[in-house]
Amino acid sequence: MKMIRLKIDGKLVVAPEGTTILNAALKAGIYIPHLCYMEMKEVGYKNDCASCRICVVQIKGMNRLIPSCSTPIKEGMEVITNSSEVMHKRRVVLELMLSDHPKDCLICGKNGNCELQKLAISFGIREMRFAGKEGKHDKQHSISITRDITKCIMCRRCETMCGDIQGCGILTGVDRGFNVIVNTAFNKNLLETNCTMCGQCVAVCPVGALYETDNTFKLVEDLMNPKKKVIVQVAPAVRVAIGELFGVAPGIDMTKKLTTALKRLGFDGVFDTNFAADVTIMEEATELKERILSSLKGEKDVKLPLFTSCCPAWVRFVELNYPEFRDNLSTTKSPQQIFGALAKEFWAKEKEIDKKDLVCVSIMPCTAKKYEASREEFVRDGVADVDYSITTRELGRLLKQYNINLLEMPEGEFDLPLGESTGAADIFGRTGGVLEAAARTLYEWISNGKLENLDFVPLRGFEEVRTAEIEVEGINLRVAVVHGLGAARKLLEEIKNGRGHFDAIEVMACKGGCVGGGGQPYHHGDFEIVKKRAEGLQVIDYHKELRESHENPCVIDLYETYLGEANGELAHKLLHTHYIDRKNK
Ligand code: FES
Repeated sequence: MKMIRLKIDGKLVVAPEGTTILNAALKAGIYIPHLCYMEMKEVGYKNDCASCRICVVQIKGMNRLIPSCSTPIKEGMEVITNSSEVMHKRRVVLELMLSDHPKDCLICGKNGNCELQKLAISFGIREMRFAGKEGKHDKQHSISITRDITKCIMCRRCETMCGDIQGCGILTGVDRGFNVIVNTAFNKNLLETNCTMCGQCVAVCPVGALYETDNTFKLVEDLMNPKKKVIVQVAPAVRVAIGELFGVAPGIDMTKKLTTALKRLGFDGVFDTNFAADVTIMEEATELKERILSSLKGEKDVKLPLFTSCCPAWVRFVELNYPEFRDNLSTTKSPQQIFGALAKEFWAKEKEIDKKDLVCVSIMPCTAKKYEASREEFVRDGVADVDYSITTRELGRLLKQYNINLLEMPEGEFDLPLGESTGAADIFGRTGGVLEAAARTLYEWISNGKLENLDFVPLRGFEEVRTAEIEVEGINLRVAVVHGLGAARKLLEEIKNGRGHFDAIEVMACKGGCVGGGGQPYHHGDFEIVKKRAEGLQVIDYHKELRESHENPCVIDLYETYLGEANGELAHKLLHTHYIDRKNK
């Protein structure tokens, strides 16, 4: 690789050819403010349309300023990042941007997390010198995501994420000149489009143009209602990220403090989605075993590969784009929905609570889980399995509102029996984890023996698509793990064209899996944060006494005393679902 030598602010910098000035400077410890630019190299995400011009720098010998985020370095180049002219122009650019931006920061969905706000603070903007005309667009709420297009600064990060990375292309620049905005086709509500609700657009939007639809008001009302019993479940990826909102490093397990904090919020039961994840494996591994054995017997129309169905954005993606693969999706409900069904049918009966008076709330790293909870397939006798979901970020806000400092909480435990879990459930929160958990159980069920090494290392990591062969009792299982919907689309096309042959495939819509979900604390493009959260879950798994779902004693008891056989009559009725062809809707 050819190395280029240049000077930035008088400092000699050496970087590979093709590097941008911005990246060379950042690598050398020289900070250049930037806004529209964002890059997550590890997952192939890059937004370098150079639309904001905050990152302008001066090059010796050039009579105009240039954007450092889109200009490659050249041999002998001399860059000045902070001359008076640069500072003045940057400030004017920022002031112009603010001139037509709404000034309602106090009630903005990204207040405190807005990158434009941070720039205004660091530039010490105290008054508006330019009175700009402001665009006016109504806020648009969907069950998962709220859009406030008036706040859009045309950075196009969401467009790149939705189109190039997720392969969905729902958000795109429309109109011309001053009126240009990023919008859906015909200004449709996201729910009326092919949007999967994954929330990755929310995760990268630097301002308040996209944010999660807030359910905390609903929750506060329910918690105050003496006629309601309100219980909560916590997804695995939440516990290794919620600490970030209180200044803790990503990946640190906050489970024990979190359970106490949730009890202080006033929940009548604090449970673990992990319990339901272990049940998911009981059902999904049973399904996979049945399909594989049927296929080995030569039965026709066996739907393989089996696709995991825990990720609601992925499920919606299939329903909208590839309904011909609907029957390949595992019919097992996601852990969120399995928990809700068990809470409303099993736990409510045990506690003699009318399920109509029981409010089941979930805390999820994901915006699509709000949508999933609202799907009508998950309503029985007029009662939803899960009433609503709140994201990790919403929970962080709520705890602060209630003056509950997570860090000061004494350690507590989840309530039983729906709070018991194995390490297999913890890894559901990272890419590859669901398949690894299923493989641990399936291996033992097929071999009737004990698995010596529980770590299926080839399924781990962050490569877009990872494949492996697992040999058990002479059967060769071909499996794949995919993260990111764009990558999933490519794999589906391969399978459609007869080029990919697998028995099971795990797909997670978000890069890194749920730890990188659209409802997690903002990582502002630093994928290392997502990796640390994934490592955190792995550490929890390693330290669990039991690491295989079928060994969870409370799950065993549930099947023995209530459900009967996995995928048996009652289990199928409560814990399985069906999918809808939404392509033509
Ligand atoms: Fe370079 Fe926006 S960050 S133009």
